[in-house]
Amino acid sequence: MSTSDAAQTGAASITPHKGKLGIMIPGMGAVATTLIAGVEAVRRGFAKPFGSMSQMGTIRLGKRTDDRSPLIKDFVPLAPLEDIVFTGWDIFGGNLYDAAKTAGVLDRDQLDSMKDFLSSIEPMPAAFDQRWVKRLDPKFQKVGKNKCDLANQIRNDIAEFRAKSGTDRQVMIWCGSTEIYIEQSEVHQTLEAFEKGLVEDHPDISPSMLYAWAALKEGIPFANGAPNLTVDIPALQELSKKMGAPIAGKDFKTGQTFIKTVLAPGFKVRQLGVSGWYSTNILGNRDGEVLDDPDNFKTKEVSKLGVLEHIFEPEKNPDLYGDMYHKVRINYYPPRGDNKEGWDNIDIFGWLGYPMQIKVDFLCRDSILAAPLALDLCLYLDLAQRSPALKHLGIQEWLSFYFKDPDSAPGVYPEHDLFIQNMKLKNTLRHVMGEDLITHLGLDYYGND
Ligand SMILES: NC(=O)c1ccc[n+]([C@@H]2O[C@H](COP(=O)([O-])OP(=O)(O)OC[C@H]3O[C@@H](n4cnc5c(N)ncnc54)[C@H](O)[C@@H]3O)[C@@H](O)[C@H]2O)c1
Repeated sequence: MSTSDAAQTGAASITPHKGKLGIMIPGMGAVATTLIAGVEAVRRGFAKPFGSMSQMGTIRLGKRTDDRSPLIKDFVPLAPLEDIVFTGWDIFGGNLYDAAKTAGVLDRDQLDSMKDFLSSIEPMPAAFDQRWVKRLDPKFQKVGKNKCDLANQIRNDIAEFRAKSGTDRQVMIWCGSTEIYIEQSEVHQTLEAFEKGLVEDHPDISPSMLYAWAALKEGIPFANGAPNLTVDIPALQELSKKMGAPIAGKDFKTGQTFIKTVLAPGFKVRQLGVSGWYSTNILGNRDGEVLDDPDNFKTKEVSKLGVLEHIFEPEKNPDLYGDMYHKVRINYYPPRGDNKEGWDNIDIFGWLGYPMQIKVDFLCRDSILAAPLALDLCLYLDLAQRSPALKHLGIQEWLSFYFKDPDSAPGVYPEHDLFIQNMKLKNTLRHVMGEDLITHLGLDYYGND
C-alpha cells in the first residue's frame, strides 16, 4: 500500500466528529473557569489559544524535503471549538462568572465581556467527602445512601446533560481539588471488587473515583488533572478497556515540573551530574490552600518527586545521579493568588567533577498554563475514542506529554522526558492517520535507502 493509500485508510477508520462535544468537569475552580472562559474568548475572536498544541501546533509529515507541516487541527479530525458545550460539578454553587471572579485569574474586563455566557453555566451539586479535601467546606453536595448511590446520581446527571445539551459525545476531566494521599488497596484491584466496594462504602474509594466510574460506565473518556490515584487503578483501567472509553492521567504538567522535564533531559544527554535539586513554590489560590494540608500535599509531593528519578535513572547512572538530593516544597502564600512563583536551585557538576549552579525563578500563572492542556486532553481523548487503534487501549500513554506523573501500563515505566513525550504524541497522530512515523534517522537524505 502506498503512503497516501495508508493515510486514506487510517483517516477513514476514524469516526467523524459529527455533532457537539460535551466537556464535563468535576471541580469548576480556577483551571476549569480559565479553560471555559478561554475557549469562549477564542470562539468570539477576542484571543488566541496560546499554549494549546491541538490549536496552534503543526506536525511534520513525510520527509524534511516534502515540506508538509499542516496544523494538527487540520490534519486530525478534532472537534472544533465551536462544537464544545461545557458543564460540571462543584461544592460551591453559583454560576461560572462568579466562580471565575473568585478564582481571580482573568481580568475583570475580560470576564465582563463574556458575562452572558459564563453566567449561563452553573455547576451541578458535587459528590464530595471532606475526609478527602480537608480544607474545603461544602455548600452544594449530593446526599446518597452509599457511594454507589452517589455514583449513580452522577450517571443520572450525565444522562440529563446528554439529553438537554444535545451533545453527541462527551469527555470528562477532573479539575477538582487534590485529594489526600492513598496507595492502591484490594478494592482497587478488580472491577468486581470496586463495584462491591461502592455498595459497601469502602473507605478507599475517593470522590474522584466515583466520577470516573460513572463516566466510564457511560462510555465516556476520563482525564485526571490532579495527582490523585483516580483512574490509576486496575479496576478502572479494566472498565475503561471494557467500555472502549479511553483514560489518561495524572496531574497537569504546568509550571515547575514542566521546566524540570525540559532541563533534566538536557543534563542527562550531556552526561552532566546533579548533586542537588531544590524546588520550592509560593502559591496563593484555593489549590494552594488545599495543598497546605499535609495529607493533600503528600499526593502532590509524590507526583512531583517521581520526575527526576525516572529521567535520570540513577541505578543506571550512579556516578552522575546516585547521590542526588531532591526536595520539593509548596508554600501557601495568599497575596500571590493564582500567580505562582516557582524557584529551583540546581547543583550540577561537569568535567572532573567541577560544580556549577543553575537558578530558575519562574513567575508563572498556574491556570493560564493548565487551561490549554485541559483543552488538548479533552480533544485528544475524544479523538482516541473515535479511533479504532486507540479506543480499547485503556490508558492513553501517548498523552503523557500533559502529565507530571503519567499513568502507564503495569510493568512499563512512565516516560517523563518532554521531548520523547512530544515525539510519542505526534507519532501516535501519524499512526492513527496512516502516515509514516518519523524516526529522525535521516540516512536516506544522503543516498542510503
Ligand atoms: N493550575 C495548575 O497549574 C495545576 C497543575 C497541576 C494540577 N492541578 C490540579 O488541578 C486541580 C484544579 O486546580 P485549580 O487551581 O482549579 O483548583 P481550585 O481549588 O481553584 O478548583 C478546584 C475545585 O474543585 C472543587 N472540588 C473539590 N472536590 C470536589 C468534588 N468532589 N466534586 C466537585 N468539585 C470538587 C473545589 O470546590 C474547587 O472549586 C487541583 O487538583 C490542582 O492540584 C493544577
